[in-house]
Amino acid sequence: WPCTVCPMAVAQTGSGPGGRSPSGWWFVKRSLDVDSRFVLLRLSLVMKLKRILMVLLIVYVSIPFIIKLCPSIQAKLVFLNFVRMPYFIDLQKPADQGLNHTHNFYLQPETGLSIGVWHTVPARMWKEAQGKAGDWYESTFGSAHPVILYLHGNGGDHRVQLYKVLSSLGYHVVTFDYRGWDALFVYDWLKRRLNEELPLYIWGHSLGRGRVATNLVRRLSDRGSPPDALILESPFTNIREEARSHPFSMVYRYLPGFDWFFLDAITANNIRFASDENVNHISCPVLILHAEDDGVVPFHLGKKLYNLASRSKSLSGHKVQFVPFPSALAYKHKFIYRSPELPNILR
Ligand SMILES: *[C@@H]1O[C@H](CO)[C@@H](O)[C@H](O)[C@H]1NC(C)=O
Repeated sequence: WPCTVCPMAVAQTGSGPGGRSPSGWWFVKRSLDVDSRFVLLRLSLVMKLKRILMVLLIVYVSIPFIIKLCPSIQAKLVFLNFVRMPYFIDLQKPADQGLNHTHNFYLQPETGLSIGVWHTVPARMWKEAQGKAGDWYESTFGSAHPVILYLHGNGGDHRVQLYKVLSSLGYHVVTFDYRGWDALFVYDWLKRRLNEELPLYIWGHSLGRGRVATNLVRRLSDRGSPPDALILESPFTNIREEARSHPFSMVYRYLPGFDWFFLDAITANNIRFASDENVNHISCPVLILHAEDDGVVPFHLGKKLYNLASRSKSLSGHKVQFVPFPSALAYKHKFIYRSPELPNILR
């Protein structure tokens, strides 16, 4: 007590005019004996604590109601958390990220809308790439290197590191900023420029992008032109299950009516990242990568998605593979690109 209380007592007695003068000190010392001062201070601290607890309780109880009444708030929360662009990256300058063989350009899926695209050529072409413009980059799609269309998550550094790894493994990496169906537009744009025999893979990371990836591949499979493979890094089954295990939900998990307050609002909002449904419509090889110590998308959701995929009729006859990364490697949600096994896994 004395250590924490004394400075406050000094601050309080010292705040009045002339409070620090020797006569002020003398007055305080004489008028209140030390014990009763502590009792008073303790009382006021208890009052303060009570007030803080009260406010916290009110906030805790009102959040579910606010979310239930204005589902758009939840939509914002979900998108802020998972789909936000890394604002700290200047997308016009891939070179600032150490990508000296990347071209930044724009595509127009519809009039008035342009989306930024990055094309990273295989790292062994980096010298040749210096000072080259769009024409040269486009012409490299005619070379014999496979292409990965990467649907990035929100972590800025993760994506850049992964581009470096994939390009050093000899892949072209094409990535873009998009809303839902722009992905199909970019895929078709790319497909038109590629050598017929050249493999084109789709890679989705995490929540939003895993969904966009499975949506896109489902659409392509329905159309009869699936990609050569779908790679899902740290994916999950659907948003309800993910939301249930999100740290935010932990606080409310045991509140009666959790589903009604939170999960129904998500579904009502149509933010349904239903990868578990999509795997029943996909017809190309699927590779799922997941770290056991993933703290954002729990490992068991990736595993569950794999189990669903391996039972899917549309996937029968295609290779469906699940690669877990043990906790000891500490790859968590974003560091699977560090795995030295990646070249073997992708082979
Ligand atoms: C350009 O990138 C390549 C491949 O990542 C790297 O090996 C090379 O050192 C970089 N060159 C410069 C000048 O930064």
